[in-house]
Amino acid sequence: MGVIVLTGIGASIAEILLQNQENKLVVVARSEKPLIELQNKYGKDRVVYVAGDLSNESISEKIITTAIDSFGKIDSIIANAGVLNPVDKIANAKINEWKELFNINFFSIVQLVSNALPHLRSSKGNVVIVSSGASTKYYDAWGAYGSSKAAINHFAIQLAGEEKDVSIVSVAPGVVDTNMQNDIRDKCKY
Ligand SMILES: NC(=O)c1ccc[n+]([C@@H]2O[C@H](COP(=O)([O-])OP(=O)(O)OC[C@H]3O[C@@H](n4cnc5c(N)ncnc54)[C@H](OP(=O)(O)O)[C@@H]3O)[C@@H](O)[C@H]2O)c1
Ligand SMILES: *[C@@H]1O[C@H](CO)[C@@H](O)[C@H](O)[C@H]1NC(C)=O
Repeated sequence: MGVIVLTGIGASIAEILLQNQENKLVVVARSEKPLIELQNKYGKDRVVYVAGDLSNESISEKIITTAIDSFGKIDSIIANAGVLNPVDKIANAKINEWKELFNINFFSIVQLVSNALPHLRSSKGNVVIVSSGASTKYYDAWGAYGSSKAAINHFAIQLAGEEKDVSIVSVAPGVVDTNMQNDIRDKCKY
């Protein structure tokens, strides 16, 4: 089984999945350290990693080839990577910052899932998208984040309609005490 996950909520997802001896993961994040630690804990036969920016096209392709070379198939993609910033009013929007957020929270998932589809079709696999309650609700100064999560929810609807052999679900995990929440607490002036 090849699964794509990251750290924070992703680290917990990985730990839970690795309790099942049959599961094997490709884990991805920009920081290499937590990826190495997970690999050391569970062994190279069950955990391989790609350290890099998911919004970089060559990293995205490398994730797919790493999964196939290591494990021979991909059963599931867990699209958990996400960022909150920029946190600011629309009146102060810096479009390049919005685009950078969309590159990570939206376009990187479109690309990864699209590239993985041939493998997901043959495994009758699934895609789990980690979305947010902010996709459907107003939160002060979270315009970029909420918009990207609303967009990825529609992507899930679209994929479900197009791909009969691939299951997809978009999940809003609720408040989870991770680095993202530390960041939110730091910005509570909003
Ligand atoms: N925590 C909550 O209360 C909450 C609520 C609703 C939804 N969510 C969603 O849950 C998901 C996980 O968030 P979290 O709370 O666990 O936050 P987190 O602790 O900040 O984790 C985010 C993870 O994404 C990775 N990441 C970010 N940008 C990346 C990039 N460009 N390329 C590769 N990896 C990247 C980070 O690793 P690196 O920085 O090393 O790249 C990190 O492992 C996000 O999609 C978030 O929107 C969280
Ligand atoms: C994307 O990743 C590749 C491989 O690590 C690297 O050579 C390239 O410089 C990266 N591109 C950008 C725009 O960062």
